[in-house]
Amino acid sequence: MGNAVANVLNVGLSSPQPLMANTINFRVETPKETKKILFVTSELADVIKVGGLGDVSSALPRALNPSHDVRVLIPGYRQVLESGYQIRIIGKFDGHAALPPCQLGRIDMEDGLIVYVLVCPELYEREGSPYGDENGRDWADNHIRFARLGLAAADMAAGTACIRWCPDLVHAHDWPAGLAPAYMKWRGQSTPSVFTIHNLAYLGLADTQCSPELGLPPEANTIEGMEFHGKLSFLKAGISYADHVTTVSATYAQEITTQDFGCGLEGLLAVKVRQGMLSGFANGIDESWNPLTDHHLERNFGINDWEGKRENAEQVRRLFDLEPSEGPLFAVVSRLVYQKGLDLTQAVAEAIVAAGGQIAVIGRGEPELENAMRRLAERFPGKIGVHVGFNETDARRMFAGSDFLLMPSRYEPCGLSQMYAQRFGSLPVARRTGGLADTIEDGVTGFLFDASTPESYLDAIHRAFKVHSNPELLNAMRCRAMSSPFYWHQSVEPYAKLYSDLLGETRQVAGVI
Ligand code: ADP
Ligand code: GLC
Repeated sequence: MGNAVANVLNVGLSSPQPLMANTINFRVETPKETKKILFVTSELADVIKVGGLGDVSSALPRALNPSHDVRVLIPGYRQVLESGYQIRIIGKFDGHAALPPCQLGRIDMEDGLIVYVLVCPELYEREGSPYGDENGRDWADNHIRFARLGLAAADMAAGTACIRWCPDLVHAHDWPAGLAPAYMKWRGQSTPSVFTIHNLAYLGLADTQCSPELGLPPEANTIEGMEFHGKLSFLKAGISYADHVTTVSATYAQEITTQDFGCGLEGLLAVKVRQGMLSGFANGIDESWNPLTDHHLERNFGINDWEGKRENAEQVRRLFDLEPSEGPLFAVVSRLVYQKGLDLTQAVAEAIVAAGGQIAVIGRGEPELENAMRRLAERFPGKIGVHVGFNETDARRMFAGSDFLLMPSRYEPCGLSQMYAQRFGSLPVARRTGGLADTIEDGVTGFLFDASTPESYLDAIHRAFKVHSNPELLNAMRCRAMSSPFYWHQSVEPYAKLYSDLLGETRQVAGVI
């Protein structure tokens, strides 16, 4: 408030106009002090990434800085401790119920991003992914691991982590961070919080008997709290207790208020919409996704350098043991999970090969889908190549070398792969859902289809084949796709405005000039 008043005076005093006794209404923006925002997340692409959450957690803070002071809190997984970054221990957290005491580390990235690391070896230093063991089984103590993360964020906001930096606002991402806004509300902390849903289907469920271990108050286990069909949902906690909820595309924001996409939370989410507390802000991509400069590519290329793109295609064919070919090369770069509609790709694979196409797949996920993909490669040697695994360099080379990206997702909150592909001149063939519908222009930058059926998918694939046989049209579409305005700096504004609103910094003020 003090700032707002000071600002009104400054406007008056510095005005070159003679003072006039007119009363006018004007809007005062007071971003005088850099807003301190704490991102709370379970993935950060710089050190550990399973999917797009890691990309967003890394790119969005950087895009918001330097006009904000955004710092990121992540658990100290083995991969983080062994990342080669220097971690200085700067603070500590007390234990609470079954949540053990732990330490706070700090990494200063070369570009200035500050990453806080929750150091607690007994919870995080394990072989496997952030969420489960090497066989894909969830860690049995995930409720403790991620409640510990949420509570650490609440402690930082309360200023009890023994460090000087204290956030003005906490921005929690997906179910692993869902308890951050909840602990803050239960303890009566006034720091505002934002919760972003990257994927509603991961509800973060725990048994209600876990309440005492997590030190939850009785109200947690109520319908207004985080109770969900006889369980506790960390995701619901984030939605119920944050001051504002966002999700990662406008279309998904609408979809999740319906029964088909709402995962049982559609009623609560529809209420949030009516209260003006749910927004859909599309993700962006960071500037490393540029085929002209990407150091992962052996041959960089730009718009109209189709010879450069062809060389990348040849490299992908070599990487995946595919025969030399003039036909279209389709890529799949995906987590291998139900959401991504890979059964549809299996169903159309034979038709793609019969029409002269080839497919290169990189992915990791559910063991049955991994095996199904391996079997496809065995059935069509030289035509379909499959790498089960996660490899950032190969993924980028595939976006650069492929003609088309297959993304028949059943649902897709935003999707980043289709944006990366477009930047690299690979046209997505995707289902018209969520962020795919918002970021692909059918027949202009890619191909969309509606029904989750092989027939509907094949129809879009046939359109892709047709375009491939017409180089002029193909290249025109590539040009449009490669110039799509996806970079984060073009899409951070809604977050900046939201933070400003929640911090009460934009006010209608009546003043006298
Ligand atoms: P989701 O977050 O649902 O997995 P997105 O499209 O938002 O989907 O983000 C996926 C991210 O993960 C992209 O950066 C994509 O390139 C990357 N990715 C997915 N699978 C692999 C893989 N097997 N190897 C390398 N990168 C991958
Ligand atoms: C989730 C979604 C994906 C989104 C990503 C980043 O993993 O599945 O659609 O792009 O989060 O927000």
